[in-house]
Amino acid sequence: MWVVTSPRNDRRPLWWGARAQDPTEIPEPAALPESADVLVVGAGLTGLSTAVLLARSGRSPVVIEARRVGAGTSGHSSAKVSLLQGGLLSGMRRHASAATVRAYVEANRVGQQWLLDLLAERGVPVDVRDAIAYAVSQRGAARVASEHEAAVEAGLAVTEAGTDLPFPVRAAIMLPDQAQIDPVAAAQALRDELVELGVPVVEGVRATGVSLRRPWTVDTSVGGVSAQKVVLATQIPILDRSLHFARVSANRSYVLAYPAELEAIPQSMSLSLDGPARSLRTATDPSGQTYLLVGGNGHPAGRGGSAAEHVAELDRWAHQHFPIAEAAWSWSAQDYHLTTHVPSIGAIPGTDGSLLTATGFDKWGMALSAGAGHILTADILGEPTAYAEQLRADGIGLRDVGTTAALGAATAARLTGGRVAAAAHRPSETPPAEGQGRVEGSPATPTAISTVDGRACRVTAVCPHLGGILAWNDAERTWDCPLHGSRFDPDGTLIEGPATTGLEQR
Ligand SMILES: Cc1cc2nc3c(=O)[nH]c(=O)nc-3n(C[C@H](O)[C@H](O)[C@H](O)COP(=O)(O)OP(=O)(O)OC[C@H]3O[C@@H](n4cnc5c(N)ncnc54)[C@H](O)[C@@H]3O)c2cc1C
Ligand code: FES
Repeated sequence: MWVVTSPRNDRRPLWWGARAQDPTEIPEPAALPESADVLVVGAGLTGLSTAVLLARSGRSPVVIEARRVGAGTSGHSSAKVSLLQGGLLSGMRRHASAATVRAYVEANRVGQQWLLDLLAERGVPVDVRDAIAYAVSQRGAARVASEHEAAVEAGLAVTEAGTDLPFPVRAAIMLPDQAQIDPVAAAQALRDELVELGVPVVEGVRATGVSLRRPWTVDTSVGGVSAQKVVLATQIPILDRSLHFARVSANRSYVLAYPAELEAIPQSMSLSLDGPARSLRTATDPSGQTYLLVGGNGHPAGRGGSAAEHVAELDRWAHQHFPIAEAAWSWSAQDYHLTTHVPSIGAIPGTDGSLLTATGFDKWGMALSAGAGHILTADILGEPTAYAEQLRADGIGLRDVGTTAALGAATAARLTGGRVAAAAHRPSETPPAEGQGRVEGSPATPTAISTVDGRACRVTAVCPHLGGILAWNDAERTWDCPLHGSRFDPDGTLIEGPATTGLEQR
């Protein structure tokens, strides 16, 4: 029997806690093949969907995963599988053509249908729900109106609607018959499908680099693998030879799961278009306990002030509005976005079409991960889909040079700013208080010092990826990089992000 009460902020989402499993555990890897037809790096929903589709098309993929299947953002998601995605379509429409927004919706529609069919075939429960975008402020109401327009233009049957929320709402739109799932159950169903298809899925193996040219050799924590084609389904590609790092930024947000009577809480999947965003859905764990999930307070990873305060503010808001018990689970996660909101799915420029990636899902990757799987598979089979070509028309390219330069300048400013701030903290004999961390020392060699569970740790404060100065995350007790979202435990162990090594001990 699963126990409802768990320590808050132990980094386990409901989906893992309910299984009494820890997504941060790294399993002992099984034998890794020396070569692969297609090597898929990363076993989130993107990598897993791609591998299933490749195997069903007669290709022979191998999947490697740094941690466990579904341990990344997929297994930390609020997991609404919806085509109405907050204010995303109108945000994208400001940067992209109507044809591109339609192509984006098409990729999502294909992915949503395919994933839900697969879950139904494998007996994984799916809750069908109305998706609602709403606003309580005048500004938010204008966003709802823009989203309505963009959604209708993109061919979605979105209508004005009331809500089942217990507070006054200025405007709301609704798309019926969307879905909410348990994302870990979904990841494990995809893994089971792969096992039946005879595809090796090797957990506990981290890719650390890719050769400069074909034939591709992917270096990993347990040796090299050569491959005809490589799919970097790692959320953000781990290579530094593409435009991605200048274009893509990591955004963290928070989710709390409150035990609640199902009849007393809203049944729709709602998302506010006011700032800060509020995301709501219900969930049921394997013991039958029902929950209200409340998400929001997103901010760029490694920037945005005290993470603990973001959690506390979300918690206050939830208790103010809903008849709920204390949160049983509390977690956060990150996803990447491009300024245009158009995801980047396909070959990395300059790699002859054989090194591919998918990123920029903007916290809407549940349907799109399987959509990306379709796009990447079609690319590998040499039959690119029309909607993928249209998405790429507004993707990373020459027209982004201005944006890229601006982001590069902002990045450099943050890097310098971090070093100056570090220099302001002269080395101190006193370790930080329990649960706290600080950066101190000279601008050239800043040190990240923290105290967690009574243990003081000193590691370099310089991110091994591209040199960002790390910031303390007081909710998760981690060091987070403000540049591209690499994250580390207090002792320097790498958790996630484009970095491929941990932090040097000081
Ligand atoms: C708080 C939050 C809530 C969200 N809610 C929703 C929602 O309600 N609906 C929705 O549609 N979307 C939502 N999203 C977005 C969605 O969860 C993601 O877009 C999606 O899960 C991304 O899937 P992925 O497979 O691309 O990435 P991931 O699931 O992160 O998979 C990448 C995998 O690659 C592995 N990896 C990384 N580097 C390496 C390496 N070097 N070697 C080997 N393996 C590596 C990681 O361990 C990980 O397992 C949410 C996101 C967040 C942050
Ligand atoms: S993640 Fe790129 S510099 Fe830290």
